[in-house]
Amino acid sequence: MKRIGILTAGGDTPALNATIAGAVQRANQARVEVFGIIKGFSGLLNPQVPHVHLNPLFQAIPELDPTRGGTILGASRDYVDSADTETIGRVAERLKQLKVDGLVCVGGDGTLNGMQPLSNHLPVVLAPKTIDNDLGLNYSNEASDWYREPDSSHPKGYVTKKRPERAFGLDDMINYVTPGFATAVYVSSLSVQRIRTTAESHRRIAIIEVMGRDCGMISLATAYGQPDIILVPESPVEAGPLVDQVHAVLDVQKHAVLCVSEGIVDTQGQILGAMSASQDPAGNIQYTGAAQAVKRLLVDQIGDAFFTRQRRNESANAAIFVRKIGHTQRGGRPILFDRFYASQLGGKAVELLLQGLHNCVATLQYRNGGFVLDSIDANKLRDHWGNIHARPLSPSFYDPTRFQPS
Ligand code: F6P
Repeated sequence: MKRIGILTAGGDTPALNATIAGAVQRANQARVEVFGIIKGFSGLLNPQVPHVHLNPLFQAIPELDPTRGGTILGASRDYVDSADTETIGRVAERLKQLKVDGLVCVGGDGTLNGMQPLSNHLPVVLAPKTIDNDLGLNYSNEASDWYREPDSSHPKGYVTKKRPERAFGLDDMINYVTPGFATAVYVSSLSVQRIRTTAESHRRIAIIEVMGRDCGMISLATAYGQPDIILVPESPVEAGPLVDQVHAVLDVQKHAVLCVSEGIVDTQGQILGAMSASQDPAGNIQYTGAAQAVKRLLVDQIGDAFFTRQRRNESANAAIFVRKIGHTQRGGRPILFDRFYASQLGGKAVELLLQGLHNCVATLQYRNGGFVLDSIDANKLRDHWGNIHARPLSPSFYDPTRFQPS
């Protein structure tokens, strides 16, 4: 393998440059050239878009700073439709012109789908990233494609073998995070802590909305910032119990901080405060205001009288305030964990291409008491997709009292 391409697709995360840097570092060791594709898959669709040579003389270009957020290559949410053979052909031709022998796609679920049609034309590997942590890369040891078999005749005492084909299920999953998630959670947890002081000082109810689409992982993990109540899309919001819970918190501490996922749903499964896919010209669900919807609910149900009784000079509308953290979670520098971890996965993605493995996902898995870099078959992951979001989250995990100081 003489030259590989790398692209970043989907929404940005703070750890993308770290992934690219890890990939370039590994490629430098193997004396493989790396061409950066501009603006994700859309850079392959337009032959006028130039590429970037990321390692002339097998040295990373100085602009590639792994500690910087965003992506030096630019990103887009344009993917190649697997049914559109004409476009796939054009993209494959462009990669051929660039003389790349393999492609590393840095992305999430959309990117994994987007790289599939290309996998018939050249080796492709996904280096995962998403702040949402919804890639379903939550495996147990048994779900790995590879395993170690004890073998005393071998100097290492074991041999690594490929596991026979097997279906894997939800039970196989363990907690695993995607690069970008930790930084997003760091930002949201810090926001909860900072907003609490205002909520506390003014005896208000703060509702903080975090990203994550229809996955509640960011909201759940924001438990580290110790909000009083967490709402996730996996558990529909019921007005009565929610209001009771808010009152219970107010009784004790006179203020409350709620952390809500942008994709929370009501008991009918309707996304609260969202513009539905049918209303959006592009056909996407637009998450416009889950926190606002919760505020409306609380203003109606708690009412001004409650706040008057509490001798506050504010109406319910003023005493309940909303903050949407939004893209702050995706921006800025990655925290150290994300930076390190993303670089490892970038390096592993290149390693997989060098080993001749492709159409797979680079992963860091916890096995036999330690973390190991490994791979997962991309199709297995895609086949499994339908179930991932339907996975009920364990109530004990998102019970915020578990995270309260004793
Ligand atoms: O998938 C990452 C994510 O940040 C989601 O959490 C969020 O819903 C979405 O992207 C926002 O996308 P955009 O930046 O395109 O508005």
